[in-house]
Amino acid sequence: MRTARTRHYLMCRPTYFDVVYSINPWMDPSKPVDTRLAISQWENLREVYLGLGHTVDTIDPVPGLPDMVFAANGATVIDGRALVARFRDAQRVAEGPAYHDWLRDNGFTDLRTAGAVNEGEGDYLLAGDWLLAGQGFRSDPRSHEEAQEFFGRPVVGLTLVDPHYYHLDTALTVLDERTIAYYPAAFSPGSAAVLRRLFPDAVLATAEDAAVFGLNAASDGRNVVLPDNATGLKDQLRARGFHPVGVDLSELLKAGGSVKCCTLELRGAAT
Ligand code: ARG
Repeated sequence: MRTARTRHYLMCRPTYFDVVYSINPWMDPSKPVDTRLAISQWENLREVYLGLGHTVDTIDPVPGLPDMVFAANGATVIDGRALVARFRDAQRVAEGPAYHDWLRDNGFTDLRTAGAVNEGEGDYLLAGDWLLAGQGFRSDPRSHEEAQEFFGRPVVGLTLVDPHYYHLDTALTVLDERTIAYYPAAFSPGSAAVLRRLFPDAVLATAEDAAVFGLNAASDGRNVVLPDNATGLKDQLRARGFHPVGVDLSELLKAGGSVKCCTLELRGAAT
């Protein structure tokens, strides 16, 4: 039997969501986007979290920042300390200060903006004592050292090799302190070997489940919120005693994001 622990999340309503530039292979600005549908799918995700007993704060969306809905990228927050993102792409740079100001205004006094490119929880996932950190596409490996120093937690650098899985949270999800699920082919051979060594009992996702962003999930230790069409992964999770909760975020996938991307966990929140 798995035990859930209630979480404190920050989300950003996709009021201005659109795909008007392309910074990952999923984004095709020539494809139409239904912003109203994106909003209703996002509202549903928020309600699912509230139904599970989680606290959900929201940050005001900013016009002209269509990717701001992906709150996971705004920062990494552990023990009430916040390391605010520095984005790689010019189109997203202004999101960093917006998340900085929200965190400052909501009681996070111990906060710093990363010096090196660091896309927050897109690339930094806490698994027990280890801070798993992606590199290869977005976050700079120099940000790993900076994060280790800031949080005083061992950072395990992992190299992503498939541009479709450009952030760590598109290829790996933390299910509980000891359990992760990941898609091995998204990692360099050495990084896949590191994951096998640290997590010999991990759930290994198929290419099909990875391609629908099944690994872009948010777990509370028991309930795992993930894209509903990751059917194989849902079965694997059930077999391990987790409770999968499927949601549809098809509009947001047009920007290369899903459940986890929309969700920043505030650990040791100041409130
Ligand atoms: N369009 C966004 C980008 O490419 C999507 C970000 C998804 N967020 C995430 N945590 N993986 O930056």
